Amino acid sequence: MTKGKFDVLLGLQWGDEGKGKVVDVLTPRYDVVARFQGGPNAGHTLIFDDKKFVLRSIPSGVFQGDKTNIIGNGMVLDAALFQAEAEALEAAGIDLKSRLLISKKAHLILPTHRLLDSALEASKGSAKVGTTGRGIGPTYTDKAARTGLRVGDLLRSDFEERYARIRAAHERTLKSLNFEYELSSIESKWREGIAYMKSFCLVDSEHYLNKILREGKKTLCEGAQGTMLDVDFGSYPYVTSSNTICAGACTGLGVAPHNIGKVFGIMKAYCTRVGSGPFPTELFDADGEAMCDRGFEFGAVTGRRRRCGWIDLVALRYAIRLNGVTDLILMKSDVLDTFKTVKACVAYGLPDGTETDEFPFDCEAVKPLYEEFPGWLTDLTKVTGEDEFPEEFNSYISFLEEYLETPVSIVSVGPDRKQTVFRKL
Ligand code: GDP
Ligand code: IMO
Ligand code: MG
Repeated sequence: MTKGKFDVLLGLQWGDEGKGKVVDVLTPRYDVVARFQGGPNAGHTLIFDDKKFVLRSIPSGVFQGDKTNIIGNGMVLDAALFQAEAEALEAAGIDLKSRLLISKKAHLILPTHRLLDSALEASKGSAKVGTTGRGIGPTYTDKAARTGLRVGDLLRSDFEERYARIRAAHERTLKSLNFEYELSSIESKWREGIAYMKSFCLVDSEHYLNKILREGKKTLCEGAQGTMLDVDFGSYPYVTSSNTICAGACTGLGVAPHNIGKVFGIMKAYCTRVGSGPFPTELFDADGEAMCDRGFEFGAVTGRRRRCGWIDLVALRYAIRLNGVTDLILMKSDVLDTFKTVKACVAYGLPDGTETDEFPFDCEAVKPLYEEFPGWLTDLTKVTGEDEFPEEFNSYISFLEEYLETPVSIVSVGPDRKQTVFRKL
């Protein structure tokens, strides 16, 4: 870890890699944890002391003492969902108001944004993205169109007029899509949420973060979703609406690129995806079923069954290069404990008969080409140190490090905070 730097932790696949767990594990090494993009489309699971929490908009550093947690300007916030999430934490004994700051520049997800998300998805028929339905796309659309409302706008005297204007525009679109809706009950919960949100410390978080940087303090920037869902580099248009890559931490927090230290890239030992879109290594067989069942691969936000497949090293190396990953974190290897053979996709066969190990513009029609490894057939969940790893597992890790040209610094062997093995960190 570099002194007075911003380290970044982000997903390298299609999300749900285990970001929440590792942010919680690493938090004691930092002064501040700051989320830089996304909103309540995220579901970050933390398990410790036989308790389980799923965080959506609140950073995953809130359970480790009195660290400061920041909701950054790059995020989009639904006041009603924020209130439900925050009150659940307060009920669990977390003194949230003393440790959470919210950027005034974060954008507000309005009740009509959620309706628009559903209406637009419905209008797409079979080409639907399979969004989480939380209004993420429409909110970022308004941000880019310069018609959005921000958390800081809540403090303005003309907030209601601004809100009425944008709501009317949204309602015109909903009507043009022939979408039936009922706004008043969602709106009244949202208004309650807004009053609650105003009781938090609303700040210019870019000033705060740069000040603590000058004081030599350390911030861990927490990403949401994953690199293959990035709006520029992911499997467009089956992506989310923000930059999930490392550069997103710069724009989503006000961090200068040269102040970024380590970049932790998280990946599962296999791969999952929820929602529509291409997934070259997807399995439709017993191995895929076993990954889903053993890995309990159901969406933390929507409960949808996650699609499962082998690890895709072509997509991972692409993700590592885009992010400048310095350290890999390997998650959920224990899910493969019972597999006699473990596969890794090392190249794609293209429709014209050639092969590539570079991630192509279009990955819809590629055929994954695999390298096979003997399984480790050992219960990894009980392992407490690297010296207990079976030989087959060590060989698998060495292969990953060589192909991906990046060291694996942390290996997670179970969902609990304690089931974490540090290797080179
Ligand atoms: P995130 O969105 O990246 O924070 O990941 P999610 O919380 O959506 O999904 C990760 C899931 O895997 C959660 O249910 C975690 O409790 C669980 N998990 C995390 N690490 C491990 C691990 O090493 N092994 C197993 N078996 N489960 C894990
Ligand atoms: P975490 O942070 C997995 C997916 C949705 C859909 C696409 C667009 O828990 O890893 P959106 O609602 O963002 O417009 O949906 O992105 N998606 C995620 N998949 N993990 C997530 O977050 C996701 N957030 C969005 O399923 O395919
Ligand atoms: Mg998740």
